[in-house]
Amino acid sequence: MNEKQRLESQQINQKSSADVKSDANDNLDRLKNMSSDELISRYFQTTYEPPNMRKAKKRLKKDVDIHYDFDIPLEMRAIGKGKKFLIRTYGCQMNEHDTEVMAGILTQMGYTPTEDTNDADIILLNTCAIRENAENKVFGELGHLKPLKLENPDLILGVCGCMSQEESVVNRILKKHPFVDLIFGTHNIHRLPQLINEAMFGKEMVVEVWSKEGDIIENLPKQRKGKIKAWVNIMYGCDKFCTYCIVPYTRGKERSRMPEDIIQEVRHLAAQGYKEITLLGQNVNAYGKDLEFEYGLGDLMEEISKIDIPRVRFTTSHPRDFDDRLIEVLAKGGNLLDHIHLPVQSGSSDILRVMARRYTRESYLELVRKIREAMPNATLTTDIIVGFPNETDEQFEETMTLVEEVGFESAYTFIYSPREGTPSARWEDNIPMEVKKERLQRLNALVNKQSAEAMKKYQGETVKVLVEGESKKDPDVLSGYTERNKLVNFKGPKSVIGEIVEVKITNTKTWTLDGEMVESAVEVK
Ligand code: 5AD
Ligand code: SF4
Repeated sequence: MNEKQRLESQQINQKSSADVKSDANDNLDRLKNMSSDELISRYFQTTYEPPNMRKAKKRLKKDVDIHYDFDIPLEMRAIGKGKKFLIRTYGCQMNEHDTEVMAGILTQMGYTPTEDTNDADIILLNTCAIRENAENKVFGELGHLKPLKLENPDLILGVCGCMSQEESVVNRILKKHPFVDLIFGTHNIHRLPQLINEAMFGKEMVVEVWSKEGDIIENLPKQRKGKIKAWVNIMYGCDKFCTYCIVPYTRGKERSRMPEDIIQEVRHLAAQGYKEITLLGQNVNAYGKDLEFEYGLGDLMEEISKIDIPRVRFTTSHPRDFDDRLIEVLAKGGNLLDHIHLPVQSGSSDILRVMARRYTRESYLELVRKIREAMPNATLTTDIIVGFPNETDEQFEETMTLVEEVGFESAYTFIYSPREGTPSARWEDNIPMEVKKERLQRLNALVNKQSAEAMKKYQGETVKVLVEGESKKDPDVLSGYTERNKLVNFKGPKSVIGEIVEVKITNTKTWTLDGEMVESAVEVK
């Protein structure tokens, strides 16, 4: 776009709120009568390739391009000067980290952050598609933001993240929320400067969603949330295709970052004084499978254990790929913490088979046995889905007994949510929602009981706490996590925020511990 065109489109864009309202209503009338294909060809200003389920399974492992040349074009570096951005994040740590990248890009474009929607010049909703209620929250939020957009036509409202990778969501936004300016997918984050530029100066909704997910962009800027803990992506995507899960379609194929790029990032974080890193991936145990040389998560963790950073965590594991090499490396301890989040999903081998998890109850228990043998003090936590299509009472009971047998200290528990496009969403389901809810309640009661029991064992013990800041409920109380990921509240001087301190536990609750700082034992790393 040349300068003249830009000025013209800028003028077009500077509409009054009355114009915007009537435009939105006109749009709505036109859109209601259009088919999906018409919508796509009429309204997708750039590229739109909805993920194709059949093609997704055939994707090739090897064609990953790594780019080290991300740059914000000169003319876009001051676009945000004097302007503010707000990003609302839904869902997992991966999304939280993507938000940090987007915040980094926006900062380099001159924007500054705000928490106040009324103050923001750009609002992005970084969405999650894992369950229906996650999506409903986003549509609810769009409804709340509509009046703001109508009052302030210059506001740029964008939807990104996993929901934008779904064709049905994009169509729904086009039809029901035409005031949205920008939709972009999980593979298009590095294009944010160009997309904002188009949304600012163009007239139509900008939609850019790619199903091609081959690339890794290495040198994206990041505005990290805090200076104590940091996330580090080690891989992107997932090739497991569990039958209920939308992630392999929204996040694309598994692709690992090069070990040296990860190690360099961790070294840099250590040099900046970060105390804890969490290595991130949808299925971190598959790390390295797509590399052209023999290298796995165990090898990577061994390298990282040599870096001078006090705490290293990783998430999320898949039991199928959790190998002996990793157990051997984790067992050495050091900065590798012995908390393992190992999603089991169900305790019934039959349900696991239809979920396509590729392990059985027995092989999961065998893995737990090996982990415990190598790391007797390891804490195990998990994810569980109840009410998978046609899950019988007996199959659910198997989940209950597995939870007891393993002794999970906490669990994220979910009622199965059919996701359009996944295999299980097409299956008939004879289990009423009432039954599913009862099962969830029983499971939660058991998990809570086990959590409280695990907490009681800490009474009178001294634990190491990485102090993150003031507690949410009481500014006079500090809080932080133990090595095994237990939240501890205690009184102490603000000067220890960001340090690892020793705390003696004086009281235990279901999910948290209370304690007193052991004054003399401040460990400054
Ligand atoms: N319904 C319910 N829970 C799901 N999860 C993933 N997909 C679904 C679904 N369709 C859960 C799994 C996973 C966690 C991140 O979310 O337990 O481990
Ligand atoms: Fe989804 Fe995890 Fe299964 Fe991948 S391994 S498909 S992210 S549940």
